[in-house]
Amino acid sequence: MSERLQAIRGMHDVLPERTPFWQHLEDRARAVIEGYGYREMRTPLLEPVELFKRSIGEVTDIVEKEMYAFEDRGGDRLALRPEGTAGCVRAAIEHGLLDQPQRIWYRGAMFRRERPQRGRYRQFHQIGVEVLGLAGPDIDLEVIAMTRRLWQALGLRDLRLALNSLGDGDERARYRAALVKYLRAHEAGLDADSRRRLETNPLRVLDSKNPDLADLIAAAPSLLDYLGEASRAHFEQLCGGLDAAGIVYSIHPRLVRGLDYYNRTVFEWITDALGAQGTVCAGGRYDGLVAQLGGRDVPAVGFALGVERLLDLIDLSALDPSPDAYLVAPGDAASAAAPGIAERLRDAVPGLRLVMHCGGGSFKSQFKKADKSGARLALILGDEELRNGTLGCKPLRGQGEQRTLSFDALISTLSDMRRVG
Ligand code: HAM
Repeated sequence: MSERLQAIRGMHDVLPERTPFWQHLEDRARAVIEGYGYREMRTPLLEPVELFKRSIGEVTDIVEKEMYAFEDRGGDRLALRPEGTAGCVRAAIEHGLLDQPQRIWYRGAMFRRERPQRGRYRQFHQIGVEVLGLAGPDIDLEVIAMTRRLWQALGLRDLRLALNSLGDGDERARYRAALVKYLRAHEAGLDADSRRRLETNPLRVLDSKNPDLADLIAAAPSLLDYLGEASRAHFEQLCGGLDAAGIVYSIHPRLVRGLDYYNRTVFEWITDALGAQGTVCAGGRYDGLVAQLGGRDVPAVGFALGVERLLDLIDLSALDPSPDAYLVAPGDAASAAAPGIAERLRDAVPGLRLVMHCGGGSFKSQFKKADKSGARLALILGDEELRNGTLGCKPLRGQGEQRTLSFDALISTLSDMRRVG
């Protein structure tokens, strides 16, 4: 026997029994996001490596260690996208979309070569939103309010909103100088990774997950003390808007995010239910990125949520992806007539989930398959039903006698069933 091949570590198949849960989340998310007037954009999975270096930042874990980057046969340096913001901005610049504000959303697979564990995969999926061309705290509030509405639509409680402002470039530069001074004074307490970051990207030290550094980081200077008047006003207006909307948040002065393009508002939605990978959604403002990638100097804000992490949290027990009915048709004449009858039923009952038995077999074996399919009804087409223009209809879940129904009566039974859900 030849050796069996397996999926790549950290990359998962979504089997048919799980896809209804994905579709549920995607449908709900799409309805909420499009309800705010956002339009979907689809960009390639592969982009030039340079795009991610220039946006996410050279000295970030994603770019330094996690990108699937390679040279293609023509010698071009490409990478599987590790996130969606950079491609979205590239496309907006390339297609001249920046003359007016854009509200864009996207969904799809992202790739990071991280160490796989629960909630952390090498291929994972995001649903994200990017607003290009709006500067005020009102739009920051809109995207955060949208995330809260998403959690409500998905039946999620117990998510915490962590909020911070990173200020603008010069404010961050002043903060950076103060932070470097502080970290140098405590260099002996740093681990190797943080010492390296101290040289290359000191703000990232605040993002260290090493518990031994927690106290040192907690005592570090706070970015919020370095905000200028305009950044402070932006942040205060956002906080006021959140208060007015009843959106509960807490300010985390050391929340810096793992990508370099952010300024001013940053936020994360966090749960305690998923262990170490507790951030289910993250985003913020990135006013400099569009210009940095060669576009007009327009402000921007957005977020992305992790589909796998959210699916791990949502109670999906009430979702029933089973078919409505399974058509059993033993015998040559009935099995020859079954496809036509199944099509007529599908014409008559929009959205009907009907499985037609294929492959012959006795009544008993077909009926067993009907039961196993999880369908709520078995529809039985035998010689007698065929002669009389009727169908047998037997409930497979719970009690209920088999009844013989005319075609019209069956259509109204199936229609009622779909309406009730
Ligand atoms: P991010 O924080 O890198 O931000 O990722 C956003 C979310 O994607 C995370 O909060 C998490 O739920 C999920 N995620 C990230 N990495 C993994 C992984 N390896 N396995 C499973 N889930 C993961 C961004 O990607 C930004 N582009 C967000 C953004 C959009 N900011 C502005 N606009």
